[in-house]
Amino acid sequence: MLDSAGVFPEGFLWGAATAAYQVEGAAAEDGRCESIWDVFSRTPGRTVNGDTGDVAANHYHLLDVDLALMTELNLDAYRFSVSWPRIIDDDGAINRKGIDFYERLVDGLLDRGITPFLTLYHWDLPQRLEDRGGWANRDTAQHFADYAQVVHEALGDRVHNWTTLNEPYCASLLGYGAGVHAPGRREPKAAAAAVHHLLLAHGMARSIIRGDVGITLNLYPVQPVNPYDAQDIDAARRVDGLQNRLFLDPVLRGEYPADVLEDLAPLGFADHIRPGDLNLIGAPLDTLGVNYYTGHHVTGHVGDRTPEWIGSEHVHNVGRGLPTTAMGWEELPDGLFTVLNRLHDEYPRLPIHITENGAAYDDTVVDGRIDDHARRRYFEQHLGAVRDAIAAGVDVRGYFAWSLLDNFEWAEGYAKRFGIAHVDFDTFARTPKLSGRWYATVARANALPE
Ligand code: FCB
Repeated sequence: MLDSAGVFPEGFLWGAATAAYQVEGAAAEDGRCESIWDVFSRTPGRTVNGDTGDVAANHYHLLDVDLALMTELNLDAYRFSVSWPRIIDDDGAINRKGIDFYERLVDGLLDRGITPFLTLYHWDLPQRLEDRGGWANRDTAQHFADYAQVVHEALGDRVHNWTTLNEPYCASLLGYGAGVHAPGRREPKAAAAAVHHLLLAHGMARSIIRGDVGITLNLYPVQPVNPYDAQDIDAARRVDGLQNRLFLDPVLRGEYPADVLEDLAPLGFADHIRPGDLNLIGAPLDTLGVNYYTGHHVTGHVGDRTPEWIGSEHVHNVGRGLPTTAMGWEELPDGLFTVLNRLHDEYPRLPIHITENGAAYDDTVVDGRIDDHARRRYFEQHLGAVRDAIAAGVDVRGYFAWSLLDNFEWAEGYAKRFGIAHVDFDTFARTPKLSGRWYATVARANALPE
């Protein structure tokens, strides 16, 4: 139990997270092949300012600098993703140089007493597989399992904490449905297929990996604008269904939610499910990764707004007048408490890690300092919600700030900064922001300040 000073349980892990394509750069070095994000970001009009991850935060070349930064920030753990197109080349062969990079990273972390949390898929599907249908093609799941096996053979002796997928919601529905993420397809049927094939890939990889295995889902509290209005209530059900339950239920209960199956029937969703799939997908996990940023407040009365693709974050959402981050996302720290309690109450219980939480703001550099008070407050409020959830009995084992570094924020390019350390994209100098220095003190104390 916690005392009123906001002490976290002993052994609680304080971490920070990144993803390969967002930070590494070195896009064409040491045998790395193209991913869907290379092709998407180089296509005119897809990202803000036409930004790409070609150089990103130059982490590939600044590994030692970044390891030192993690020590400076008192991190217990570091969550990163492995770039699939660095590991398997366009002929399907293993690229030793790609593995070398992650060995250096993992060894560097272990030398510093920082626990590696390895994510196998944070959205950078090899383009050669997209050319054969991508996640809409069931074969991609088997390719993923083969890749997982390669990474596991190389690093399984040193990495204990594994995440199969990051946010399959985004990889499927935003990538193949709304088309705002790579591969930029607006094909609802392909999006539905991608959902199942991503989850199948998770299940197949899960059966291969030894250690603590989890999946990371982006979860949201969903509220109807008018809780007495049937259309609003149904909109909330559908959005909750697509954002949350479509992923939680198969992974934690081994079944798809009946109402969502019905909603997706016109897209032929169930045609993709074969005997045995749900046993694989629903195999018990060691932890659940939760990414949390905001909540949804939805209406079924869309007026003149045309839903792009049901479940896309922009559909049916109505602002509540709350403070927003630079992404336009409403700040809802209580929502994190709601999400954690919902998991505790409604699903089979297992340890939870908050694998991402954080915020973009328009930072300013003044005399070399970034005094990002808004971000510090965001972390404080959300960590308060985590602490309250733990006090209420939820088994949260760790928290990863998104992100260690300012980086390539997908379709938003470099315009949106999430780092607890600032990156100067001309010199690649890293400077801990006020929020990062604050986070380092919280990590050291294992407690929020009184
Ligand atoms: C999440 C992604 C992560 C980052 C944050 C802001 O959806 O997993 O890579 O872009 O949003």
